Amino acid sequence: MAVDDLSLGFGELTVMRHITVEVPRGSITALVGPSGSGKTTFLRSLNRMNDKVRGFWHQGSVRLDGRDIYGRDVDPLVLRRRVGMVFQRPNPFPMSIEDNVVAGVKAHRMVPRRQLRDVAETHLAQVGLWSAVSDRLHDSPFRLSGGQQQLLCLARALAVEPEVLLLDEPTSSLDPRSTEAVEELVRSVANGLTVIIVTHNLAQARRLSDYTMFFYEGRLVETGPTSQLFEHPSRPETARYLHGETAITSR
Ligand SMILES: Nc1ncnc2c1ncn2[C@@H]1O[C@H](COP(=O)(O)OP(=O)(O)OP(=O)(O)O)[C@@H](O)[C@H]1O
Ligand SMILES: [Mg+2]
Repeated sequence: MAVDDLSLGFGELTVMRHITVEVPRGSITALVGPSGSGKTTFLRSLNRMNDKVRGFWHQGSVRLDGRDIYGRDVDPLVLRRRVGMVFQRPNPFPMSIEDNVVAGVKAHRMVPRRQLRDVAETHLAQVGLWSAVSDRLHDSPFRLSGGQQQLLCLARALAVEPEVLLLDEPTSSLDPRSTEAVEELVRSVANGLTVIIVTHNLAQARRLSDYTMFFYEGRLVETGPTSQLFEHPSRPETARYLHGETAITSR
């Protein structure tokens, strides 16, 4: 994905200014910065999740394989199959576990109906949930633990075989073990898949990502290979944030 001079906001409010960055295919990029710096808004603009938000506007471009995702000929639903998203809080749909996994596969008619169960099994196994849920595929997902629900949401996102996966603090509501499971999964799927993950957990950014982007007050202050950014930040704002000295800006 290539973001070129992207500014965006809601009504009078400008949330992000003049962001230019390229996200290499198959890499994991961490997005860090204080609360309110615009990470979620930026992430959501990469698959047009802000389109229906009141007052949303953008300038500049976001390209996927060279084509502007905000172009007139782009169907946001088709775009979101290519650029999937998982949110901070697990949000299973009110349907069975199996139907959750294949919801997008069905909607996009990706396989014949009789193959749906196999697709569900494949992706539940991929996220390490298969043995836990194989005997309750037709049960509600809401009795699963929070960590399991998040893995289910990841299975659902992966089942449509996206090219880019956007993760907004996917482990912030999870315990350490579930967090580890999600991190392991992200690492294993990243092969070929481009992952962009927002996290407040700097250790997680360091463990997981190839590149890190540091946002501060609506600007992309610094970006680069993760080890370089953490070990030799080039900007004082980055250094202060990494050392925990940046006050949380209020919303
Ligand atoms: N729908 C909206 N309408 C108006 N303003 C919004 C909307 N969504 C977000 N904002 C504003 O955009 C700014 C950035 O918010 P955003 O949620 O992107 O920050 P963030 O970096 O993700 O913060 P956090 O780390 O707390 O999740 C904030 O000032 C917020 O109030
Ligand atoms: Mg956020």
